[in-house]
Amino acid sequence: MKTYFFSTHNFERKYLNYWTDKLGINSVFLETRLSEETLGLVKDADSISCWASDDLSKGVLQSLNRLGIKFISLRSAGFSHLDLDFAKDNNFSVARVPSYSPEAIAEHTLGLLMCLNRKFPRAYQRVKDFNFSLDGLEGVTLHGKNVGIVGVGKIGEAFARIMKGMGCHIYLCDPNVDELLARELEAQFVDLKTLLKISDVVSLHCPLNEKTKYLINKETIEYLKKDAFLINTGRGALIETQALIDKLKRKDIRGVGLDVYEYEENIFSHDHSLEGISDEKLLRLMSFPNVLITSHQAFFTSEALDNIARISCENIKNFNENLPINEQNILC
Ligand code: NAI
Repeated sequence: MKTYFFSTHNFERKYLNYWTDKLGINSVFLETRLSEETLGLVKDADSISCWASDDLSKGVLQSLNRLGIKFISLRSAGFSHLDLDFAKDNNFSVARVPSYSPEAIAEHTLGLLMCLNRKFPRAYQRVKDFNFSLDGLEGVTLHGKNVGIVGVGKIGEAFARIMKGMGCHIYLCDPNVDELLARELEAQFVDLKTLLKISDVVSLHCPLNEKTKYLINKETIEYLKKDAFLINTGRGALIETQALIDKLKRKDIRGVGLDVYEYEENIFSHDHSLEGISDEKLLRLMSFPNVLITSHQAFFTSEALDNIARISCENIKNFNENLPINEQNILC
């Protein structure tokens, strides 16, 4: 049995080498992204392993079908790059890694917030430049502030626990109300409008789908307090970028931390330092002193990379050996 691993990054190799070796998976590692154009690279494969940037749309699945590939192991939790209905209708088996380190993303969210609030990037540059002045570095004490969390799944809950530990009042918004968690954290479930109105920090942790696209739009963004922080480590299109830019232009928000961006594909995770970028909206966002952007790196810890490699390889091994795959990992 042979598995082709698409879009393998340098940073994954150590973990993939270890787990494919340990689990006895006959693997071919390719740096190439899976698409209609690169399918020709697959020869005698029984399964493929894909990153979130690979193309698993209907056309590619049709070709994989013709090649006799029936199992796809996703090295991600998200699957918006997969035509799930088509995969189901055509008897593909697809497994993912539903959770690899929610705390990693929650900790990065805190990092963005702390950097915005206490202005660490600016302070670091200043001291490097022998400028020891404190002017302009003032932050707020987060203890006692209201933190609003939109999407209270694995990551949202982890972030809520961190912020509770910092002495914040927690407000939660999720169609699934978890009364037990609310009681434990002395938190309150509220609707989105209320959450946006009362929170000093708003953090987005819900998935992107038809209902959540532009959750923060030109209307809802106006509910935010003038001195609120808005953090998005969920998905870029949860926020209508133009509405955010307009808000920032009016100096109507204290700070914005983004690990994801609506049009991040082909920009994030790549080195554009020599040619620059031409995305006008991203350039505009980067021009605001109170915006901090990271390149979709919230998940990026050793533990998360190890879990992604281990769980996705276990899924392959179980498929190869006709053993049951963990039910929570199965998409179809
Ligand atoms: P999860 O499935 O455990 O939780 C998502 C929660 O969002 C669920 O409780 C769901 O009920 C809630 N939700 C759905 N629609 C909602 C709405 N309209 N309003 C409020 N809540 C809503 O997912 P998990 O693991 O916590 O991940 C959340 C998101 O984080 C993922 O969908 C993904 O987009 C993002 N993510 C970002 C990463 C990064 O590196 N920046 C890495 C991993 C995930």
